[in-house]
Amino acid sequence: MKVLIFPTRAEAETCMAAELLRTVSGQPDAVLGLATGGTMDRVYERLVSMALAQKTDFSRVRSFNLDEYWGIDADHPASYAHYMRTRLFAPLHMDAQLTCLPNGKAADPDEEARRYEASIAAAGGIDLQILGIGRNGHIGFNEPTSSLGSRTRIKTLTASTREANRCYFAEDETVPAFALTMGIGTILEARYCMLLATGTGKAQAVAAAVEGPLSAACPASVLQLHPRATILLDPDAASTLQLRDYYELVHPAGSEAIVPLPLASH
Ligand code: PGA
Repeated sequence: MKVLIFPTRAEAETCMAAELLRTVSGQPDAVLGLATGGTMDRVYERLVSMALAQKTDFSRVRSFNLDEYWGIDADHPASYAHYMRTRLFAPLHMDAQLTCLPNGKAADPDEEARRYEASIAAAGGIDLQILGIGRNGHIGFNEPTSSLGSRTRIKTLTASTREANRCYFAEDETVPAFALTMGIGTILEARYCMLLATGTGKAQAVAAAVEGPLSAACPASVLQLHPRATILLDPDAASTLQLRDYYELVHPAGSEAIVPLPLASH
């Protein structure tokens, strides 16, 4: 697991945006696993401005979002479909046929979950999966105690998750109690996982994910098993890490590690 601690939140966000852009520049038909939430707002803002400045073509990119609320329509302003359309898909002129989210209004959640898994497999799997983390350590909407081998399915949201997302809904609306989410096993199959956390509110969850035991009590800790996972942090999110000095030694200011080459033999 690579832990990169940046001097500022903006640099951590820019690193994630730059990785998304680098992936698409190198592979215009890349399959991206996308996330939503407050942390991703500025990542997408930066990505859109960088991609437009560099004229990067996103029209062949295929994407799969982590999750969607169950029971709300794709046109609902708090739906993740709406979030993605307004922040990323429309500004980058992405092909609506290639941008996928679970359908929160499907007739049968189990069938929808199977269909979603099958479309990810048919696309050849996810090249780069970006992730946020909940204060309770969730990734996607895999709340604590989700099976570490779980697949896409319907999950009951915790009271704290519903409270954290209250701000996206009108005052007289109820935050949905359920969501369709990729499973932890689904996420683990992505070829590269990159998680971004910023702010002190995420510090405990980050410490549990990076340094705690591998446990369903902290779903993000499963990234310890992934062969290629990078954790991007600002100083606040990194503030309770025990081995912070070590991560900063290996990756000063979030830079790549410089491994000395063996001395040439004569
Ligand atoms: P946030 O959500 O970025 O809105 O904090 C992250 C998450 O719950 O995964």
